[in-house]
Amino acid sequence: MGSNKKKEIREFYDQLGGRLYDIRYRDEQKIKYGKLLNMIHLKPHYLILDDGCGTGLLMKSLKTYAVGIDISGNLIFTARKRLKRRNYASLIISDAEELPIRSNIFDIVFSVTLLQNLDDSVKSLKEMKRVVKEEGKIIVTALKKAFNEFIFKKLLETACLKINEIVLDDAFDWMALISSC
Ligand SMILES: C[S@@+](CC[C@H](N)C(=O)[O-])C[C@H]1O[C@@H](n2cnc3c(N)ncnc32)[C@H](O)[C@@H]1O
Repeated sequence: MGSNKKKEIREFYDQLGGRLYDIRYRDEQKIKYGKLLNMIHLKPHYLILDDGCGTGLLMKSLKTYAVGIDISGNLIFTARKRLKRRNYASLIISDAEELPIRSNIFDIVFSVTLLQNLDDSVKSLKEMKRVVKEEGKIIVTALKKAFNEFIFKKLLETACLKINEIVLDDAFDWMALISSC
């Protein structure tokens, strides 16, 4: 968790805090979740990772066991409050570039609006690939203002991930359903 960019990103989200994060981004993020959840059929026994989970907005809408990871302690604090009545959610303060999780355990990995924050998005995508089961799926969104289509696809290809489906008609985000190569 060493670089300057990482420190700045963590401080930005810590200072923003969960309440303001939700006020500013909740509606926008919820529209994305609707589209993402349409791309996949979630089975009740699935184990899910929400990588860069923020305040737990996506996790709240999931009915299956989910683990959320985020670098911001303050956003995780809000996520803990949001999910406190659920006994099927775990939250960890950690770095998406070095997931403290053993390999091959998740059925689905979500990564929603995380990539633009990272020093090394390919490293983080490789981590997602490592922790997802062979037959599992990864769903990644990326801001169009941060990545053009060529770069987004190139990142996935470099991490040895295969796009199964990509949403092209969304105005602000790339959304890809991915499997391991
Ligand atoms: C735009 S927010 C999206 C949050 C959440 N996915 C949502 O849908 O509301 C980006 C999130 O990435 C987290 N983040 C940034 N860099 C990270 C890193 N290296 N590892 C883990 N989380 C990180 C931030 O703390 C923030 O919660």
